Amino acid sequence: MCGIVGYIGTRDCVDMLVDSLARLEYRGYDSSGIAVAGPDGIQVRKAAGRLSNLRRKLADEDRPAGHAGIGHTRWATHGAPSDVNAHPQGTKDVMLVHNGIIENYREIEDFLTQKGYTFSSETDTERAACLIDWYYRSGKRDPQEALRGALGVIRGSYAFAVLFRDFPDRLYAVRCESPLVIGLGDGENFIGSDVTSFISYTKKYYLLEKDEIAEIRADGVYIRGMDGHLVEKKVQTADWDVSAAEKGGYPHFMLKEIHEQPEAVRAAISPRIRDGLPWLEGDGIDTDKLPKYRKLFFVACGTAMHAGLVAKYVIERTAGVEVTVDVASEFRYRDPLITKDDLFVAISQSGETADTLAALRLAKEKGADTVGIVNVVGSSIAREVDHVLYTYAGPEISVASTKAYMVQIAVVYLIAMELALKKGTISRSQCEAAVSHLQEMPDVISQVLEEKDTCSMIASRIMNAESLLYIGRGLDYALSMEGSLKLKEISYIHSESYAAGELKHGTISLVTEGMPVIAIATQKRIIEKTISNIKEVKARGAKVVLICAPEVEVGKDVADYVIHLPKTDDIFYPMAAAVPMQLIAYYCSALKGNDVDKPRNLAKSVTVE
Ligand code: F6R
Repeated sequence: MCGIVGYIGTRDCVDMLVDSLARLEYRGYDSSGIAVAGPDGIQVRKAAGRLSNLRRKLADEDRPAGHAGIGHTRWATHGAPSDVNAHPQGTKDVMLVHNGIIENYREIEDFLTQKGYTFSSETDTERAACLIDWYYRSGKRDPQEALRGALGVIRGSYAFAVLFRDFPDRLYAVRCESPLVIGLGDGENFIGSDVTSFISYTKKYYLLEKDEIAEIRADGVYIRGMDGHLVEKKVQTADWDVSAAEKGGYPHFMLKEIHEQPEAVRAAISPRIRDGLPWLEGDGIDTDKLPKYRKLFFVACGTAMHAGLVAKYVIERTAGVEVTVDVASEFRYRDPLITKDDLFVAISQSGETADTLAALRLAKEKGADTVGIVNVVGSSIAREVDHVLYTYAGPEISVASTKAYMVQIAVVYLIAMELALKKGTISRSQCEAAVSHLQEMPDVISQVLEEKDTCSMIASRIMNAESLLYIGRGLDYALSMEGSLKLKEISYIHSESYAAGELKHGTISLVTEGMPVIAIATQKRIIEKTISNIKEVKARGAKVVLICAPEVEVGKDVADYVIHLPKTDDIFYPMAAAVPMQLIAYYCSALKGNDVDKPRNLAKSVTVE
């Protein structure tokens, strides 16, 4: 939610900021803006709507000149998306870009109003900027002191990049909860909400922590604690390069990321397999403790939560351990009965999702051991869990998650197998066989990707539907939820996922002539039952798309379109069946001419509650 950037160095600051913002646009795209420090003070340019609007403005109006600046791409929280509410926000002395939410902005506003401040925007950010301004002007005009003063008052989540008019040779950055990294170049330095924003210039960066103030100059970065002492920081190095953050010839990041799945799964599983068995010790997991947990709690949001649902079916079936799956925003407020005898597993691509992070903290408070399945290295969830299993998928830029889901499931399988082996519910040879099936999955996914023309054809037949249903049983039901979410979020077609056996308890009344129903049938022991449910909707006029195991014989009384998946073991079908669902959603959105990678009202990283 919101991307912030900063640049200081010898290159054209406006170009650098806009280029970095383009890489962060997936974090929010309601408005954007930049502020550049120059000889005549701080120059601000901002525009509602996509970054292209800002680019146009910069081309039409005089370009700010300078070598230090900050920029922002917004996902609106306080105040509608408009020019006036776009960031940067501030005063003539202090300009700020912000990712997060200031909870006590009303109190701050009351305080500042008494001091004679007036506000032009509705944003909490403007209140924060004015508070820093007040500390700055009423103190010794010292940026560090002003930031310390304001941060002592501000409550909420924030990553700030700040410009002070009197100090055009430096940028300041602070954070609490929201992510922020500092890129380390040669004679130039960067601020970014994540490494993607500056990866084409440097792979080296610092992770800024809460209660640290970074002063960033062209020739050095100085990070101090709240008491002013310099903090020694470890330089981090990104292990991926700019091509991973570019489209590489695909029309959209989503399509590129769907195609990256075989490679991503290989990267996620290979370091965790030794001698044909799962090996989680390398991630610091105490595998002897695994079978002793009373219960496992998988907590996440959206697509990541759907990966948790796959975990429930797979772990309960293979290891016989009870698994509870929760949406993080519910978990944290439902007084969950989690104890020190339980294992809490947070799943998150970004590692920054506010609800998942809060749920994790609650689980820790209650004494549970914690593990994170996380993609973004060094993210907040990754840092706060006891142990992190990174998914190594590389950056996922498209707002709709595809490869991150795939690798989350891949890691879940390894946990399930390890647990089952330690519990004794499977033998060593069964475990080896399961691991070898998992190792075959990248090839299986590649084969399914060859069905992309069929998926595109199916999309062209259903894209004008007003509403449709996804149905399945067991693991197929878990997967149908993800299929439905993917379609909704990018194609804007309403859909619901239903347990196939539950339809006749109400929902089947929605089925009318021509309504598309996407059915999944991969699980041997319930295939016949699912087929019966499909026939029920077909008999009522539904246009059925069936994604199924290769042995399923499909007559005209069952489905209009069929995608037979390559053969694999039952528990691994979700990895194969996810692909056509992603592709159908993708083509529905692309054929409708939607902005596939940046669907309306959404943002990639949800750092607010
Ligand atoms: C949907 C999607 C979201 C995320 C959810 C959690 O395609 O991407 O539903 O899965 O916002 O995000 P992370 O995984 O970053 O915690």
